[in-house]
Amino acid sequence: MSFSADWLALRAKADRRARSDLAERLADLTDALPRPLKVIDLGSGTGANVRELFPKIRPPQDWTLVDADAELLKRAKVNLEHHGGLRIALHHADLMVEPLWTEHPHIVTASALFDIVSEAFVDRLASALARQKTPLFSVLTYDGRLKVTPDHPFDAAMIDAFNAHQRGEKSFGRALGPDASDTLTATLRRYGATVLEDDSPWRLEARQDNELMQAKFDGWAAAAREMMPDQADAIDNWRAARRTAATVFVGHRDHLATF
Ligand SMILES: C[S@@+](CC[C@H](N)C(=O)[O-])C[C@H]1O[C@@H](n2cnc3c(N)ncnc32)[C@H](O)[C@@H]1O
Repeated sequence: MSFSADWLALRAKADRRARSDLAERLADLTDALPRPLKVIDLGSGTGANVRELFPKIRPPQDWTLVDADAELLKRAKVNLEHHGGLRIALHHADLMVEPLWTEHPHIVTASALFDIVSEAFVDRLASALARQKTPLFSVLTYDGRLKVTPDHPFDAAMIDAFNAHQRGEKSFGRALGPDASDTLTATLRRYGATVLEDDSPWRLEARQDNELMQAKFDGWAAAAREMMPDQADAIDNWRAARRTAATVFVGHRDHLATF
């Protein structure tokens, strides 16, 4: 599964609006840590998480952006290079098979990542964080909640199909999908972490987010066609009806774990 830079750009504004206030704790949390602060952002894509978080943390900071997609990392460099005082390094790596890091960071961050990873990956990460008592700040993990208005009789089937698809094989193996938020919390706690959580849902409205909503419906319908090949007509009808949807709610959760 690959993520296009266009899709990441399209969702960036909604992601920014959705972020919870948990990030406000980063300043206090990281103040006591050494400088330069070494931060690793996992699954960085085009660098959206770095852009949001670094202004909340006292400099100097050295960020390493890790991603399996070299093109997205190149975009991240371009997107971030005009931010004065921000020092970044790019690390092109498939986190499914390669080490999480070579030099241990002071804090690890991620955005919109944990729903595509496997249970084994969360366990590996939580174990590595616990060994060095390294905090984790993760945002925008999909949690299975989906709601579109106005209601449509095929919504329930579409939601089930989407969530089943989210649990399918992705680049980390079988993905956690809608179970990611709960699994992340439970696994980190099992390794001794204190975990704070907050809600960070998308609340999309057609008057300002229609392009993102329609892209979301396209992806959703494509996933449903894979899961319910015998329901092609019903899916097409649902997709056509959703051209005039008023709102979309997509549940996400943010997590801050300390050891
Ligand atoms: C949904 S995107 C999120 C990107 C970015 N964090 C954001 O919020 O815009 C997930 C990212 O994980 C990366 N990714 C997927 N599988 C990966 C793997 N096995 N190892 C490293 N990165 C991976 C993708 O290339 C993509 O950039």
